[in-house]
Amino acid sequence: CLLYFQVHISTVGHDEMRVTWITEDDAPAVVEYGMTSGQYPFSATGTTTSYSYLALYRSGNIHDAVVGPLKPSTTYYYRCSSDPSREFSFRTPPASLPFTFVVVGDLGQTGWTKSTLQHIAAADYDMLLLPGDLSYADFLQPRWDSYGRLVEPLASARPWMVTEGNHEIERIPLLEPRAFKAYNARWRVPYDAGDSPSGSNLYYSFDVAGGMVHVVMLGSYAGFEAGTAQHEWLRGDLARIDRGRTPFVVALVHAPWYNSNKAHQGEGDDMRDAMEALLRAARVDAVFAGHVHAYERFTRVYGGMEDQCGPVYVTIGDGGNREGLADEYIDPQPKTSVFREASFGHGRLQVVNATHALWTWHRNDDDQPVVADQVWITSLASNPDCNN
Ligand SMILES: *[C@@H]1O[C@H](CO)[C@@H](O)[C@H](O)[C@H]1NC(C)=O
Ligand SMILES: [Fe+2]
Repeated sequence: CLLYFQVHISTVGHDEMRVTWITEDDAPAVVEYGMTSGQYPFSATGTTTSYSYLALYRSGNIHDAVVGPLKPSTTYYYRCSSDPSREFSFRTPPASLPFTFVVVGDLGQTGWTKSTLQHIAAADYDMLLLPGDLSYADFLQPRWDSYGRLVEPLASARPWMVTEGNHEIERIPLLEPRAFKAYNARWRVPYDAGDSPSGSNLYYSFDVAGGMVHVVMLGSYAGFEAGTAQHEWLRGDLARIDRGRTPFVVALVHAPWYNSNKAHQGEGDDMRDAMEALLRAARVDAVFAGHVHAYERFTRVYGGMEDQCGPVYVTIGDGGNREGLADEYIDPQPKTSVFREASFGHGRLQVVNATHALWTWHRNDDDQPVVADQVWITSLASNPDCNN
Protein backbone atom coordinates (compact mmCIF):
# COMPACT_ATOMS: atom_id res chain seq x y z
CA CYS A 1 0.00 0.00 0.00
CA LEU A 2 1.15 3.54 -0.74
CA LEU A 3 0.83 4.80 2.76
CA TYR A 4 1.59 8.45 2.38
CA PHE A 5 1.93 10.77 -0.56
CA GLN A 6 2.70 14.31 0.62
CA VAL A 7 2.57 15.60 -2.94
CA HIS A 8 3.91 19.04 -3.68
CA ILE A 9 4.95 20.73 -6.88
CA SER A 10 7.50 23.38 -7.79
CA THR A 11 8.18 25.27 -10.95
CA VAL A 12 11.23 24.31 -13.06
CA GLY A 13 12.32 26.67 -15.83
CA HIS A 14 9.51 28.38 -17.75
CA ASP A 15 7.36 25.40 -18.73
CA GLU A 16 8.06 22.46 -16.47
CA MET A 17 6.93 21.35 -13.05
CA ARG A 18 8.62 19.09 -10.52
CA VAL A 19 6.26 16.73 -8.72
CA THR A 20 7.56 15.41 -5.40
CA TRP A 21 5.85 12.65 -3.44
CA ILE A 22 6.59 9.96 -0.90
CA THR A 23 5.59 6.33 -0.81
CA GLU A 24 6.17 3.74 1.84
CA ASP A 25 6.76 0.95 -0.66
CA ASP A 26 9.17 0.74 -3.51
CA ALA A 27 7.17 2.42 -6.19
CA PRO A 28 8.18 3.80 -9.56
CA ALA A 29 9.12 7.48 -9.73
CA VAL A 30 6.57 7.98 -12.48
CA VAL A 31 4.07 10.78 -12.90
CA GLU A 32 1.34 10.28 -15.48
CA TYR A 33 -0.53 13.38 -16.57
CA GLY A 34 -2.85 14.99 -19.06
CA MET A 35 -5.36 17.77 -19.52
CA THR A 36 -8.48 15.67 -18.93
CA SER A 37 -9.39 14.08 -15.64
CA GLY A 38 -8.80 10.33 -15.71
CA GLN A 39 -6.70 10.41 -18.88
CA TYR A 40 -2.94 10.45 -18.66
CA PRO A 41 -1.41 10.42 -22.15
CA PHE A 42 1.95 11.78 -20.91
CA SER A 43 4.34 10.46 -18.35
CA ALA A 44 7.67 11.39 -16.82
CA THR A 45 10.10 9.27 -14.88
CA GLY A 46 12.28 10.78 -12.21
CA THR A 47 14.41 9.62 -9.33
CA THR A 48 13.94 8.28 -5.81
CA THR A 49 15.86 9.00 -2.67
CA SER A 50 15.44 8.42 1.06
CA TYR A 51 17.29 9.24 4.23
CA SER A 52 17.65 8.01 7.75
CA TYR A 53 17.88 10.14 10.84
CA LEU A 54 19.30 9.23 14.22
CA ALA A 55 19.07 5.50 13.41
CA LEU A 56 15.46 5.49 14.57
CA TYR A 57 13.84 7.07 11.59
CA ARG A 58 13.91 6.03 7.98
CA SER A 59 12.00 8.18 5.51
CA GLY A 60 9.68 6.76 2.90
CA ASN A 61 10.78 6.70 -0.72
CA ILE A 62 10.96 10.31 -1.79
CA HIS A 63 10.28 10.53 -5.50
CA ASP A 64 10.52 13.44 -7.84
CA ALA A 65 9.81 13.74 -11.53
CA VAL A 66 9.80 16.78 -13.78
CA VAL A 67 6.82 16.99 -16.11
CA GLY A 68 6.55 19.10 -19.22
CA PRO A 69 6.74 21.00 -21.46
CA LEU A 70 3.43 22.36 -20.14
CA LYS A 71 1.12 25.05 -21.43
CA PRO A 72 0.72 28.13 -19.23
CA SER A 73 -2.48 28.81 -17.25
CA THR A 74 -3.60 25.24 -17.84
CA THR A 75 -4.97 22.64 -15.46
CA TYR A 76 -3.24 19.27 -15.60
CA TYR A 77 -4.49 16.11 -13.93
CA TYR A 78 -1.91 13.66 -12.66
CA ARG A 79 -1.27 10.61 -10.61
CA CYS A 80 1.86 9.40 -8.89
CA SER A 81 3.48 5.95 -9.08
CA SER A 82 0.52 4.83 -11.23
CA ASP A 83 -1.70 4.72 -8.15
CA PRO A 84 -5.25 4.85 -9.52
CA SER A 85 -6.80 5.73 -6.17
CA ARG A 86 -5.65 9.33 -6.03
CA GLU A 87 -5.82 11.86 -8.82
CA PHE A 88 -4.29 15.28 -8.29
CA SER A 89 -4.43 18.40 -10.39
CA PHE A 90 -2.43 21.58 -10.67
CA ARG A 91 -2.71 24.76 -12.66
CA THR A 92 0.42 26.05 -14.35
CA PRO A 93 1.27 29.71 -13.77
CA PRO A 94 0.41 32.29 -16.42
CA ALA A 95 3.10 33.23 -18.96
CA SER A 96 2.27 36.92 -18.64
CA LEU A 97 0.92 39.44 -16.13
CA PRO A 98 -1.16 39.66 -14.04
CA PHE A 99 0.45 37.23 -11.61
CA THR A 100 -0.51 36.61 -7.98
CA PHE A 101 1.89 35.30 -5.36
CA VAL A 102 0.94 34.20 -1.88
CA VAL A 103 3.81 34.89 0.52
CA VAL A 104 3.89 33.24 3.93
CA GLY A 105 6.74 32.27 6.24
CA ASP A 106 7.16 30.20 9.41
CA LEU A 107 4.18 28.08 8.53
CA GLY A 108 4.41 25.17 10.95
CA GLN A 109 1.52 22.79 11.50
CA THR A 110 -0.63 24.17 14.29
CA GLY A 111 -4.25 25.25 14.47
CA TRP A 112 -2.96 28.66 13.43
CA THR A 113 -1.39 27.02 10.38
CA LYS A 114 -4.72 25.43 9.47
CA SER A 115 -6.40 28.79 9.71
CA THR A 116 -3.72 30.34 7.50
CA LEU A 117 -4.08 27.57 4.92
CA GLN A 118 -7.85 28.04 4.90
CA HIS A 119 -7.41 31.75 4.30
CA ILE A 120 -4.92 31.10 1.52
CA ALA A 121 -7.25 28.58 -0.11
CA ALA A 122 -10.18 30.99 0.04
CA ALA A 123 -8.81 33.07 -2.85
CA ASP A 124 -7.03 32.05 -6.01
CA TYR A 125 -3.32 32.53 -6.58
CA ASP A 126 -0.65 31.37 -9.02
CA MET A 127 2.31 30.48 -6.83
CA LEU A 128 3.21 30.36 -3.14
CA LEU A 129 6.52 31.71 -1.86
CA LEU A 130 7.75 30.54 1.55
CA PRO A 131 10.72 32.34 3.13
CA GLY A 132 11.73 29.49 5.44
CA ASP A 133 10.67 27.53 8.52
CA LEU A 134 8.34 24.98 7.02
CA SER A 135 7.40 22.07 9.27
CA TYR A 136 8.94 22.86 12.67
CA ALA A 137 9.78 19.16 12.76
CA ASP A 138 12.65 20.18 15.01
CA PHE A 139 14.45 16.81 14.80
CA LEU A 140 11.27 14.71 15.09
CA GLN A 141 11.17 13.41 11.53
CA PRO A 142 7.58 12.11 11.47
CA ARG A 143 6.58 15.76 11.75
CA TRP A 144 7.98 16.30 8.28
CA ASP A 145 5.53 13.64 7.11
CA SER A 146 2.56 15.16 8.91
CA TYR A 147 3.52 18.53 7.48
CA GLY A 148 3.67 17.06 3.99
CA ARG A 149 0.18 15.68 4.41
CA LEU A 150 -1.13 18.96 5.88
CA VAL A 151 0.03 21.13 2.99
CA GLU A 152 -0.66 18.59 0.23
CA PRO A 153 -4.12 19.91 -0.77
CA LEU A 154 -2.59 23.30 -1.59
CA ALA A 155 0.97 22.32 -2.47
CA SER A 156 -0.13 19.68 -4.99
CA ALA A 157 -2.29 22.23 -6.82
CA ARG A 158 -0.02 25.30 -7.11
CA PRO A 159 3.76 25.54 -7.14
CA TRP A 160 5.22 26.09 -3.69
CA MET A 161 8.62 27.73 -3.89
CA VAL A 162 10.56 27.66 -0.64
CA THR A 163 13.84 28.69 0.85
CA GLU A 164 15.32 27.49 4.11
CA GLY A 165 14.89 28.76 7.67
CA ASN A 166 16.78 27.88 10.83
CA HIS A 167 14.25 25.14 11.66
CA GLU A 168 15.35 23.30 8.53
CA ILE A 169 18.96 22.91 9.72
CA GLU A 170 18.36 19.96 12.09
CA ARG A 171 22.06 19.33 12.60
CA ILE A 172 23.18 17.46 15.71
CA PRO A 173 26.93 17.52 16.31
CA LEU A 174 28.48 14.05 15.85
CA LEU A 175 25.12 12.29 15.46
CA GLU A 176 23.65 14.13 12.48
CA PRO A 177 26.48 16.29 11.16
CA ARG A 178 24.86 17.00 7.80
CA ALA A 179 22.66 20.08 7.98
CA PHE A 180 19.38 20.26 6.02
CA LYS A 181 19.21 16.49 5.61
CA ALA A 182 15.41 16.25 5.65
CA TYR A 183 14.79 19.60 3.97
CA ASN A 184 17.11 18.92 1.04
CA ALA A 185 15.69 15.44 0.53
CA ARG A 186 12.05 16.53 0.71
CA TRP A 187 11.99 20.04 -0.69
CA ARG A 188 14.26 20.03 -3.71
CA VAL A 189 14.29 23.39 -5.42
CA PRO A 190 15.19 24.15 -9.07
CA TYR A 191 18.77 25.21 -8.29
CA ASP A 192 19.99 23.64 -11.53
CA ALA A 193 17.40 25.13 -13.90
CA GLY A 194 17.20 28.41 -15.77
CA ASP A 195 19.89 30.85 -16.88
CA SER A 196 21.53 31.22 -13.52
CA PRO A 197 21.82 27.86 -11.76
CA SER A 198 23.12 28.22 -8.21
CA GLY A 199 24.18 24.62 -7.65
CA SER A 200 22.84 24.74 -4.07
CA ASN A 201 19.46 23.73 -2.72
CA LEU A 202 19.80 26.60 -0.23
CA TYR A 203 19.51 29.52 -2.70
CA TYR A 204 18.31 29.91 -6.29
CA SER A 205 16.26 32.11 -8.58
CA PHE A 206 13.62 31.79 -11.25
CA ASP A 207 11.43 33.86 -13.56
CA VAL A 208 7.66 33.86 -13.80
CA ALA A 209 5.06 35.55 -16.00
CA GLY A 210 7.14 35.15 -19.13
CA GLY A 211 10.12 36.82 -17.50
CA MET A 212 8.17 39.83 -16.18
CA VAL A 213 9.05 38.92 -12.57
CA HIS A 214 12.37 37.57 -11.32
CA VAL A 215 12.32 35.91 -7.90
CA VAL A 216 15.54 35.50 -5.91
CA MET A 217 15.43 32.98 -3.07
CA LEU A 218 18.33 33.73 -0.73
CA GLY A 219 19.74 31.42 1.93
CA SER A 220 20.14 32.88 5.42
CA TYR A 221 21.93 29.69 6.50
CA ALA A 222 24.41 29.34 3.64
CA GLY A 223 27.56 31.46 3.42
CA PHE A 224 26.68 34.98 2.33
CA GLU A 225 29.81 37.07 2.82
CA ALA A 226 31.69 38.53 -0.16
CA GLY A 227 33.65 35.75 -1.82
CA THR A 228 31.25 32.96 -0.84
CA ALA A 229 29.51 30.89 -3.48
CA GLN A 230 26.15 32.46 -2.68
CA HIS A 231 27.47 36.00 -2.90
CA GLU A 232 29.17 35.28 -6.23
CA TRP A 233 26.08 33.60 -7.59
CA LEU A 234 23.82 36.48 -6.48
CA ARG A 235 26.08 39.03 -8.15
CA GLY A 236 25.90 37.13 -11.43
CA ASP A 237 22.20 36.45 -11.10
CA LEU A 238 21.33 40.12 -10.59
CA ALA A 239 23.72 41.26 -13.33
CA ARG A 240 21.94 39.03 -15.82
CA ILE A 241 18.54 40.69 -15.36
CA ASP A 242 17.42 42.98 -18.16
CA ARG A 243 15.08 45.39 -16.39
CA GLY A 244 13.69 46.49 -19.75
CA ARG A 245 12.17 43.02 -20.00
CA THR A 246 11.80 42.21 -16.30
CA PRO A 247 10.02 45.07 -14.59
CA PHE A 248 9.78 43.39 -11.16
CA VAL A 249 12.47 41.73 -9.08
CA VAL A 250 11.70 40.42 -5.61
CA ALA A 251 13.86 38.57 -3.10
CA LEU A 252 13.08 36.30 -0.17
CA VAL A 253 15.24 35.57 2.84
CA HIS A 254 14.54 33.98 6.21
CA ALA A 255 16.07 36.28 8.86
CA PRO A 256 14.85 39.84 8.19
CA TRP A 257 17.34 42.55 7.28
CA TYR A 258 15.04 45.18 8.76
CA ASN A 259 13.09 44.39 11.90
CA SER A 260 11.79 46.49 14.77
CA ASN A 261 10.42 43.50 16.68
CA LYS A 262 12.40 42.54 19.78
CA ALA A 263 12.46 38.93 18.53
CA HIS A 264 15.56 37.98 16.54
CA GLN A 265 16.80 41.54 16.71
CA GLY A 266 19.92 42.00 14.60
CA GLU A 267 20.11 38.40 13.36
CA GLY A 268 19.89 39.42 9.71
CA ASP A 269 22.38 42.29 10.01
CA ASP A 270 25.51 40.48 8.82
CA MET A 271 23.75 39.24 5.71
CA ARG A 272 22.29 42.67 5.08
CA ASP A 273 25.76 44.22 5.36
CA ALA A 274 27.09 41.66 2.88
CA MET A 275 24.35 41.83 0.26
CA GLU A 276 22.22 44.94 0.59
CA ALA A 277 24.31 46.98 -1.85
CA LEU A 278 23.92 44.30 -4.52
CA LEU A 279 20.15 44.40 -4.18
CA ARG A 280 19.98 48.17 -4.31
CA ALA A 281 22.27 48.34 -7.33
CA ALA A 282 19.95 45.89 -9.11
CA ARG A 283 16.90 47.96 -8.08
CA VAL A 284 15.25 45.00 -6.37
CA ASP A 285 11.68 46.06 -5.68
CA ALA A 286 10.82 44.17 -2.51
CA VAL A 287 12.36 41.78 0.02
CA PHE A 288 10.17 39.36 2.00
CA ALA A 289 11.45 37.71 5.18
CA GLY A 290 10.17 35.35 7.84
CA HIS A 291 11.73 34.26 11.16
CA VAL A 292 9.97 36.90 13.28
CA HIS A 293 6.47 35.64 14.08
CA ALA A 294 4.65 38.82 13.22
CA TYR A 295 3.94 41.16 10.34
CA GLU A 296 5.92 44.28 9.59
CA ARG A 297 6.21 46.48 6.54
CA PHE A 298 8.95 49.00 5.97
CA THR A 299 9.18 51.80 3.49
CA ARG A 300 11.85 51.62 0.80
CA VAL A 301 15.10 51.38 2.75
CA TYR A 302 18.84 51.27 2.16
CA GLY A 303 21.58 51.48 4.78
CA GLY A 304 18.99 51.91 7.50
CA MET A 305 17.55 55.04 5.89
CA GLU A 306 14.56 55.69 3.72
CA ASP A 307 15.72 55.49 0.10
CA GLN A 308 13.36 55.75 -2.86
CA CYS A 309 15.58 53.40 -4.89
CA GLY A 310 15.86 50.68 -2.23
CA PRO A 311 13.54 47.69 -1.77
CA VAL A 312 10.35 47.65 0.27
CA TYR A 313 11.03 45.27 3.19
CA VAL A 314 8.29 43.04 4.60
CA THR A 315 8.39 40.53 7.43
CA ILE A 316 5.73 37.89 6.89
CA GLY A 317 6.74 35.25 9.45
CA ASP A 318 3.21 34.98 10.81
CA GLY A 319 2.11 31.74 9.11
CA GLY A 320 1.41 29.65 12.22
CA ASN A 321 4.57 28.28 13.85
CA ARG A 322 4.33 26.37 17.15
CA GLU A 323 6.20 28.95 19.21
CA GLY A 324 3.57 31.69 19.26
CA LEU A 325 3.55 35.29 18.17
CA ALA A 326 6.36 37.80 18.66
CA ASP A 327 4.49 40.72 20.15
CA GLU A 328 7.17 42.89 21.71
CA TYR A 329 8.38 45.81 19.67
CA ILE A 330 11.16 48.33 19.97
CA ASP A 331 9.86 51.77 20.89
CA PRO A 332 9.60 54.21 19.37
CA GLN A 333 8.69 52.63 16.05
CA PRO A 334 11.47 53.50 13.58
CA LYS A 335 10.45 56.02 10.92
CA THR A 336 11.14 53.44 8.24
CA SER A 337 8.66 50.97 9.79
CA VAL A 338 5.25 51.76 8.32
CA PHE A 339 3.07 49.04 9.82
CA ARG A 340 3.72 46.34 12.42
CA GLU A 341 1.42 43.92 14.15
CA ALA A 342 1.75 40.52 15.82
CA SER A 343 -1.14 38.56 14.26
CA PHE A 344 -1.19 35.36 12.23
CA GLY A 345 -1.89 35.74 8.54
CA HIS A 346 -0.47 35.71 5.03
CA GLY A 347 0.41 38.18 2.29
CA ARG A 348 -0.35 38.49 -1.39
CA LEU A 349 1.62 40.22 -4.10
CA GLN A 350 -0.44 40.86 -7.21
CA VAL A 351 1.79 42.06 -10.01
CA VAL A 352 -0.87 43.68 -12.15
CA ASN A 353 1.19 45.21 -14.94
CA ALA A 354 4.72 46.29 -15.79
CA THR A 355 4.64 49.22 -13.38
CA HIS A 356 2.32 48.27 -10.51
CA ALA A 357 2.13 45.51 -7.91
CA LEU A 358 -0.32 45.46 -5.02
CA TRP A 359 0.87 44.02 -1.72
CA THR A 360 -1.86 43.06 0.79
CA TRP A 361 -1.73 41.47 4.23
CA HIS A 362 -4.59 39.22 5.38
CA ARG A 363 -5.04 38.41 9.07
CA ASN A 364 -6.47 35.06 10.10
CA ASP A 365 -8.72 36.97 12.52
CA ASP A 366 -10.50 38.47 9.52
CA ASP A 367 -12.28 36.95 6.55
CA GLN A 368 -9.83 36.45 3.71
CA PRO A 369 -11.08 39.34 1.55
CA VAL A 370 -10.39 41.81 4.38
CA VAL A 371 -7.12 43.64 3.84
CA ALA A 372 -5.35 44.65 7.05
CA ASP A 373 -2.49 46.46 5.33
CA GLN A 374 -1.80 47.27 1.73
CA VAL A 375 0.59 49.23 -0.45
CA TRP A 376 1.12 49.73 -4.15
CA ILE A 377 4.68 48.87 -5.12
CA THR A 378 5.79 50.56 -8.32
CA SER A 379 8.61 48.97 -10.29
CA LEU A 380 11.94 50.66 -9.69
CA ALA A 381 12.76 49.89 -13.31
CA SER A 382 10.10 52.41 -14.32
CA ASN A 383 11.36 55.12 -11.94
CA PRO A 384 13.68 57.47 -13.90
CA ASP A 385 15.13 58.83 -10.64
CA CYS A 386 16.58 55.39 -9.93
CA ASN A 387 17.97 54.66 -13.37
CA ASN A 388 20.27 57.51 -14.33
C1 LIG B 1 -1.07 49.56 -14.20
O1 LIG B 1 -1.91 49.35 -13.09
C2 LIG B 1 -2.15 50.53 -12.33
C3 LIG B 1 -2.94 50.12 -11.10
O2 LIG B 1 -4.10 49.45 -11.46
C4 LIG B 1 -2.87 51.55 -13.18
O3 LIG B 1 -3.07 52.73 -12.44
C5 LIG B 1 -2.01 51.84 -14.40
O4 LIG B 1 -2.71 52.71 -15.27
C6 LIG B 1 -1.70 50.56 -15.14
N1 LIG B 1 -0.77 50.84 -16.22
C7 LIG B 1 -1.05 50.50 -17.47
C8 LIG B 1 0.01 50.83 -18.48
O5 LIG B 1 -2.06 49.91 -17.78
FE1 LIG C 1 13.13 31.07 11.91
